[in-house]
Order: sequence, then C-alpha cells, then structure tokens
Amino acid sequence: MRTARLTLDGNDYELPVFEGSEGEVAIDISQLRAQSGAITYDPGYGNTGACKSDITFVDGEKGILRYRGYDIADLAAGCQFSAICYLLIWGHLPSAQELARFRDAMRAEALIHEDMKKFFEGYTTAAHPMAILSAMVGSLSAYYPDVVTDDDLDRNIIRLLAKSKTIAAFSYKKSIGQPFVYPRNDLGYASDFLHMMFATPMEPYAVPPAMAEALNMLLILHADHEQNCSTSTVRMVGSSGANLFASTSAGISALWGPLHGGANQKVIEMLQRIAEDGADYEKYLALAKDRDSGFRLMGFGHRVYKNFDPRARLLKSAADKVLEGLGVQDPLLDIARNLERVALEDAYFVERKLYPNVDFYSGIIYRAMGIPLKMFTVMFALGRLPGWIAQWKEMNDDPNNRINRPRQIYMGQTARSVTPMDRR
Ligand code: SDX
Repeated sequence: MRTARLTLDGNDYELPVFEGSEGEVAIDISQLRAQSGAITYDPGYGNTGACKSDITFVDGEKGILRYRGYDIADLAAGCQFSAICYLLIWGHLPSAQELARFRDAMRAEALIHEDMKKFFEGYTTAAHPMAILSAMVGSLSAYYPDVVTDDDLDRNIIRLLAKSKTIAAFSYKKSIGQPFVYPRNDLGYASDFLHMMFATPMEPYAVPPAMAEALNMLLILHADHEQNCSTSTVRMVGSSGANLFASTSAGISALWGPLHGGANQKVIEMLQRIAEDGADYEKYLALAKDRDSGFRLMGFGHRVYKNFDPRARLLKSAADKVLEGLGVQDPLLDIARNLERVALEDAYFVERKLYPNVDFYSGIIYRAMGIPLKMFTVMFALGRLPGWIAQWKEMNDDPNNRINRPRQIYMGQTARSVTPMDRR
C-alpha cells in the first residue's frame, strides 16, 4: 500500500495514500487524530478533500471541466439542460425514451401548491429573489413528505427541479407587480421559464429561439462544479439527515454570497460603475491591485482554476453571438473585454494566476436577454440545482456517509473560575 510518512515529536506515522481516476493523489488522514492526537489545519479547506465523488472533474491547472466524463464544451454545444440534469443525477445521458419520461414527470410537477402562492403576499416588491427562492425551496418540505423509498426521492428530485423554475419566475413577477404566469406543458425547460418571466395576460409571448438557446447553454455551464462553497453546504446540511429541500435551501443561501454566485450581479454593478466613471478601466484595474482599496475585480480569480475557467471561455465567445442574435449592443461588454485584456497582461494578475471565471461574462448575456440584475444569482441557482441534487444524492446513497463535523484548535482563555466580584 502506498503511504505518506508523517513524523511528529519523534514518532513516525504511516498515512494511506490513494489516487483518483484522473490521477489526483490524496493522503488519508481519517485516523490521524486517533494515532497521533494531532489534527490538520486548513482554513478555507483549500487543501482538504471532503469526499470521493464520481460526478464532476475539474482540473484547475489545465482549465478542464467534465460532468460524468463528458467535456463541458461538448455538453453545452449539443445537449438540452434537462438531459444534463438526468446525466448529473442518475449518471448517464438519457435515451430518448428516458428523457421524454423525465420531461413529462417534470411538467406534471411544475405547478406549486396554490397555498404557496400566499407566501409571496408577505414579501415586499423589493425582496431579493434569492431570499424568496431559499425560503420557498425550504418550504417545499412542508408540502412533500419525507422520503422512504428511492421512488419517493426521485419524485422529490423532480419536484425540486420543476417547482424551483416556477418559484423563480413568480419571484420576478412579484418584484414587478405583475400577475404570475403559469408553466406550460408545450415548452422545454428554458423556454417555459422565459415564458413565465416575460409573458403577460394582455398578450402572448413567443420565446425567441436565440434566447432559449442562450439560457439552455447558461444553465448547462452552471450545472455542477464539484465541491464549491454552496455544494459543500448542501452536503454538510444533508449529512445530518436533513431532507433534500432543506439542504438545497441552505445551498441557495451560500450561493448568494458576492464571493460565490452573487458575483455575477456584482460584475455588472462593477462594469456599470466603470462605465459611469468614463469607462476608465485602467483606473479600476489599479484599484483591484491595491489591497487597501477594498475593490476587487469581480468575476476574476478562482480557488481552483489557475488557468482560464473553461466556462468563461465559452461564455466570452457566446456573448458576441447572443448579443448579435438578439440585436443588442452593450457598452459593458467592451469594458469587460478591455478589463480582461489588460488584466491578463498585468503582473499582479499573472503572478496570482487570476483569470476570468464563470461570472465575468454571464451577466452580460442575462442583461441582453432582459433578465434583471437581481435575478442573476437566481439564474445561477437554477443552473446549479441538478449539481446540488446529484451531490446530495451521492452523499445520501453512500453507506459510509457520516455527519460532517470538522474539528478546531481552541485559542481562547484557559480554565478560570467565576469570582465573587463576577457574581453581580
Ligand atoms: C464562483 O468554487 C467554485 O467552483 C465556485 C464557482 C462554481 O461554479 O461554483 O466556480 C462559482 O463562485 C466563481 C467565483 C466568483 N467570485 C468572484 O468573482 C469574486 C472575486 N474573486 C475573488 O474574491 C477570489 O478570487 C475568489 C473568492 C474567487 C477566490 O478566493 P481565494 O481562493 O480565497 O483567493 P484569495 O482571496 O486568497 O486571493 C489570492 C490572492 C490575494 O492577493 P495576495 O494576498 O496574494 O496579495 O489573489 C488576490 C487576493 O487579493 N485576488 C484578487 C482577486 N481574487 C483574488 N485581487 C483582485 N481581484 C480579484 N478578483
């Protein structure tokens, strides 16, 4: 057996080493504390593997992303998002018959319980749709029973995928004070969402094919990304035995942060600020390099990618095509391209291997589609749903799964007594 030797206080410990299917090497420290009394320390978990997984492979050095072995570029070019949901969750690309059955099952579950519509009455029109989405997804567990059999789980998976799309579109309609538009059985996933977003009772809305195609690609590119912050949250919450809806609601909240999925909204706000400041992108690049400025180049950098995020490459080339197809000119795209160009030539960014990530160009495309800024992270969440579900299912199906419970090193006060003076 391959091992790594650790020497601590003159004692040697042999730690098992294993390799993944893509040659990644791990040192198994699961018995380290029992053997040595010591733990490892890795704030932010940048060097810590939380699980083994068959779902998604990311090679950050080479800029590779594959779902169940398929390259992201192949999947984004030729598949429907519903097929990618099936691939991630059940492990293979569905046959025509399997896909048809899956789509029918999702259509049958696309409505939310009429009582859930009352929840929206409690929100102001200013409520951020991510607050609504996480609350409503968590509340699905109030309507759908706990899971006993695999069939029960599959039914709840389909409910979650189908109803989240409706909840997201309803949250948009709520924010603009328009009546809800119900899902339609004759439309695919992306077209149905866009129809619920933009149709009104006064006139029918024909979804432009270019928009449906663009959304389909965006959803696929966001579908999974191994153990990112929100997926790790879903696994963490699910490891306690919490149900799929509750675990996903926690993941939605984690995604909302500006350092994670919330970055796509922050990128556009940043580009708008630069546009209003004479499009002086060099000024903001300098600010991004100054630690004291508090300014970051949003949409740039990544914990894992130390090369181009392949999704950013695909989105960068898609941006031109989508905007042209929709007949949209956006000065923010020029600013984004100039920022990227100068950053990739700048020593600060080159030394730190900071490249555009998935959030840098996605917002430009959402804008061109007429999707409002506050809905951008909701779009990320809709895309990431199958990934969260697949990862939760993989954890839930693992007989060796244990509740996640990291350790710590205590640095606080040592033992002391309450004195009579303290007893006031
Ligand atoms: C996503 O994990 C995933 O897979 C996430 C995701 C997914 O699909 O789930 O890919 C989606 O969340 C993409 C990331 C979206 N966030 C942003 O675009 C926010 C801006 N980026 C950064 O905040 C940052 O790059 C992170 C949060 C993405 C990564 O942070 P790390 O790995 O903790 O890196 P760090 O903050 O320690 O930065 C290392 C250095 C620092 O400089 P020094 O201390 O070495 O001098 O790089 C600098 C940082 O100051 N740096 C940046 C920067 N990102 C890192 N400097 C300026 N602008 C930036 N954007």
